[in-house]
Amino acid sequence: MTRINLFEFGDKHWCPRIIRDTMTVYLGYLFGKKMNVYKSAIPIIKKVLQVTRKRRILELCAGAGFHGSRLQRELDGMDMKVGVTLTDKYPNVAAFEREKEINPKVTFIREPVDATRVPRSIEGVRVMYGSFHHFNPEQARKILQDTVDKEDAICVFEGMGPYPGAFVAMLFVPLMVIDIVRQMMHPIGCKRFILTYIIPVLPLIVLWDAIASMLRIYMPHELTALVKRIRGKSFKWEIGIGRGKMTYLVGYPRITPK
Ligand SMILES: C[S@@+](CC[C@H](N)C(=O)[O-])C[C@H]1O[C@@H](n2cnc3c(N)ncnc32)[C@H](O)[C@@H]1O
Repeated sequence: MTRINLFEFGDKHWCPRIIRDTMTVYLGYLFGKKMNVYKSAIPIIKKVLQVTRKRRILELCAGAGFHGSRLQRELDGMDMKVGVTLTDKYPNVAAFEREKEINPKVTFIREPVDATRVPRSIEGVRVMYGSFHHFNPEQARKILQDTVDKEDAICVFEGMGPYPGAFVAMLFVPLMVIDIVRQMMHPIGCKRFILTYIIPVLPLIVLWDAIASMLRIYMPHELTALVKRIRGKSFKWEIGIGRGKMTYLVGYPRITPK
């Protein structure tokens, strides 16, 4: 199936903070803390760290920061000492601060960091979880080209695309949002309470974005076409589908600096 570029509320610059933050906490909690869907990404990231000899992960589009923090702990448990820097174009500073309190090896950047134009001063193997589909092909190409121009490395991981199982899972999204708001959002706040339990706008918006995300995920043949448009330094690209139908794209310089 070919990617359908539907809009998502979370992508709109006018999207209220309360919606964006509920969305990213939902994603981070469910896919990061509960399900650990990106577990099979760890050996891939580990290999890129070894090949590039880098010891820092730069998470782009980090949302609530759960995935990067978990990655740091898991690599630590494998005796691989790396630091993780959380960044986002719309940084959820409160969530980043919470994550740093739990895991002091995580740092974060308070200012917006745009994944298509990462400042040279921010260093590390770039990692993106569940966010590459937010970018149309031209923006996605820019993300990859920016990585190549700055001779960094990038690891992109996406959740399940439009497979039958994913459509079934969508039925449960509103209920899961309600449950996660109850568990994770303290204090819940008057607005969030009303928009979750009285007029359930938040669960429905998250449902829409979840469906749109699933239909926007780049499949391996689309990622291959993107990579063919990248110019410049010699890079090694690896594209595939991992456990749990996780799509991935990895790129790093063929010749690593001494
Ligand atoms: C679907 S959320 C994914 C969050 C997190 N990676 C996760 O899986 O839980 C997409 C994230 O991308 C961020 N984002 C959107 N456009 C961006 C851009 N141009 N540069 C950096 N981050 C961006 C949003 O603020 C949001 O946090």
